[in-house]
Amino acid sequence: MLSVEEIKAELKALNAEYAKIKDIPAEDRKAFGQELNKKREALQAKLQKALDDAESENIEPIDITAPSAPNQNIPEIPRGSRHPLMTELDRVVDIYSRMGFDVMEAQQLDDEFHMFESLNFPEGHPARDGYDTFRTSEGFIPPAHTSTMQHRALKKYKKNLENGGKIAVVIPGRVFRNEDVDATHEHTFYQCEGIFVSKGTTMGQMMGLLKNFFETYYGQNLNIKTQPGYFPFTEPSVELLIEKPKSLGGKGDGWLEMLGCGMIHPNVLKMAGIDPNTYKGFAWGGGIDRLVMLKYGLTDVRNFESGKLEFLKEF
Ligand code: DAH
Repeated sequence: MLSVEEIKAELKALNAEYAKIKDIPAEDRKAFGQELNKKREALQAKLQKALDDAESENIEPIDITAPSAPNQNIPEIPRGSRHPLMTELDRVVDIYSRMGFDVMEAQQLDDEFHMFESLNFPEGHPARDGYDTFRTSEGFIPPAHTSTMQHRALKKYKKNLENGGKIAVVIPGRVFRNEDVDATHEHTFYQCEGIFVSKGTTMGQMMGLLKNFFETYYGQNLNIKTQPGYFPFTEPSVELLIEKPKSLGGKGDGWLEMLGCGMIHPNVLKMAGIDPNTYKGFAWGGGIDRLVMLKYGLTDVRNFESGKLEFLKEF
């Protein structure tokens, strides 16, 4: 096989041939030129291959059996780390699991029925517009909230009720909204949904459970309050707020809306085959991004999806 230097010399000689074109009779020039071009292309390909081969010859394989320095001769690529949202999502799910909740995973592509009908939004209901849903060209919906999983969870765990038990499940998931992005709004974010159904469920239990969740997550006592909300799938519906504690940069007078919740609407239970006269439930759903922003004093939600290493390295 020719060396790199030899191929380069051949290419140089070939280039000199091009000078002869002007001495060739006009009718033969085209064929002569084409022949030269062909040779040149072949030589260039050979040159590339020779250069590649020369390069790989210079790379020495690692010898992992070298006795002198066990392991130390294995080079290490700097490690990445988990995304802060995933670490925090695990903490959230862990708190609910310790309370006794099962965990179900949400899906990232859903349909009209689970996004709307199963949640008591009849067709043409104006609240459908409030969810700024994306749609694929096939008509699927990247879920705008984790509530799209409610119907599936109720059906899956219905047998617990029939066996005298309860439904207690949380469902973390990634959600998508077709809205303008700014420091507090993202098109892609995470939510965690929760569902609890049993015979004597009350709204007071819901408040107690959620207060306990937030206090455990932030590791301190917190004040909570509700304000009226509207969701077709709960009745009554409320929004839950927590008072921003001084330790998290609050002045003691700021309330932050953390999630939507309420008693599950009888129609939602009925659609899943659960008798609303016998069983009552509550459900809630809130953003994980917002929860984490408060914990770390972050001000721009866009950093989470940005892939910016400077941001991610802070965690
Ligand atoms: N899915 C609602 C949203 O994203 C939040 C929500 C409200 C979830 C009430 C619930 C609920 O489970 O009962 O705006």
